[in-house]
Amino acid sequence: MALLIKNGRIVTAADDYVADIYVEDETITQIGVGLEAPEGAEIIDATGKYVFPGFIDPHTHIYLPFMGTFSKDTYETGSKAALVGGTTTIFDMCVPARGTDPAEGFETWNEQSTGKAACDYSYHMGVTQFGENSAAQLKEIVEAGVSSFKIFLAYKGAFGIDDTELFQALKLAKELGVVVCAHCENETLVTELQKELLAQGITGTGAHHDSRPPLVEAEGVHHLMTFAGLTGASVYIVHLSCKEALEKAIEARLRGVNVSVETLIQYLVIDKTYAELPDFEGAKFVMSPPLRDASNQSVLWDGLRTGLIQTVATDHAPFDFEGQKPMGKDDFTKIPNGIPALEDRVNLLYTHGVKTGKLDLNTFVNVASTQAAKIFDLYPRKGAIQVGSDADLVIYDPEYRGKLSAKTQTMHIDYNAFEGWEIEGRPSVVTVRGEVAVRDGKFCGTVGRGQFLKRTPSHF
Ligand code: URP
Ligand code: ZN
Ligand code: ZN
Repeated sequence: MALLIKNGRIVTAADDYVADIYVEDETITQIGVGLEAPEGAEIIDATGKYVFPGFIDPHTHIYLPFMGTFSKDTYETGSKAALVGGTTTIFDMCVPARGTDPAEGFETWNEQSTGKAACDYSYHMGVTQFGENSAAQLKEIVEAGVSSFKIFLAYKGAFGIDDTELFQALKLAKELGVVVCAHCENETLVTELQKELLAQGITGTGAHHDSRPPLVEAEGVHHLMTFAGLTGASVYIVHLSCKEALEKAIEARLRGVNVSVETLIQYLVIDKTYAELPDFEGAKFVMSPPLRDASNQSVLWDGLRTGLIQTVATDHAPFDFEGQKPMGKDDFTKIPNGIPALEDRVNLLYTHGVKTGKLDLNTFVNVASTQAAKIFDLYPRKGAIQVGSDADLVIYDPEYRGKLSAKTQTMHIDYNAFEGWEIEGRPSVVTVRGEVAVRDGKFCGTVGRGQFLKRTPSHF
């Protein structure tokens, strides 16, 4: 298998130049001007197009038993949707319910993923309890190639851990060199505020925000920062949504806490008024932490531009509007949390970040690909266009104009949170380790070719 991509404008987190890329089998083997292809090689003319490293979504829930139901995508549908949108690597949250051993959870997620993904993938291993088997089993999982943990300060009884378990998980992570991803919201405050709202008869979708206001998230971040500082563990705050929480992370970073920050494309482009839409329409926009007041968006964009925030993810957790979201029709606390966006992240970030001048092209690549590869031990295999890197490439057409819609999407979900929104650019060709997997918005790759990526810890 050989592939020559001619005359593309190669943009990475650091570079921007026009050249050809030659791929043999799964790897980039040459980058230069005027490269020739041997007979039989496929040649793609990328004149007038960008060539980006494959994008990485560091936070998805392709398989997720949650709030009495299951997220809708499978590794097949989710990975196809990722690829159509230019994402060639996903990090799924392997989160066994409390009461289930890590080893059993790891096996369950492997059963879901093995042989079914079209793009490459890894997991963040959920530490949803810290019992007597946990340390030994987690060590084995790290040896099997998972170099990151996931913990929740929210969702008590489902995934949430207490402070003793948090301390133990962070100590183990430090010992193993594993980075710990954390959902930061103070669970007690969420529970008490939910009770107060329900007692007043406030049950609608708009109340979701009021049960988890910015200070609830900021307290969660502050809490994690204290524990990370005292244990020396490296931590990564997932789905940071607001100014108050970012301030707590930055204060801790200034004191020497090793903390990275992820925000979501949803927080950058939609706000809490969407979750307040009438006739239960707001349920499409219920997730945790909630969509925030629009004033937070400039803080998040500035954070990305100036390097205070490292990554943009989706937290893709798809639950149908018909049949799943209505579980919380009369009680907002029962609406399955999640706003799907896996397929649309890159195009929305390009349209609303690059085209509006909020992000330059290098920063766009950095926050949507390279930083995730670096933090999660995949760089420069992923997140780079270098000789020796995996040939995960996105040939991006900046002239494309189109609209997002549930009718045309690949994601296995009955709505699109950005229905009718215009996008200015999309991937015209996407490769996964040298194989063309998408052409002109259509998946044409191989289900089952996606590999589980073994990673070696580096956060000692
Ligand atoms: O609302 C969300 N975020 N759903 C998925 C679970 C989580 O907290 O990441
Ligand atoms: Zn979360
Ligand atoms: Zn999540």
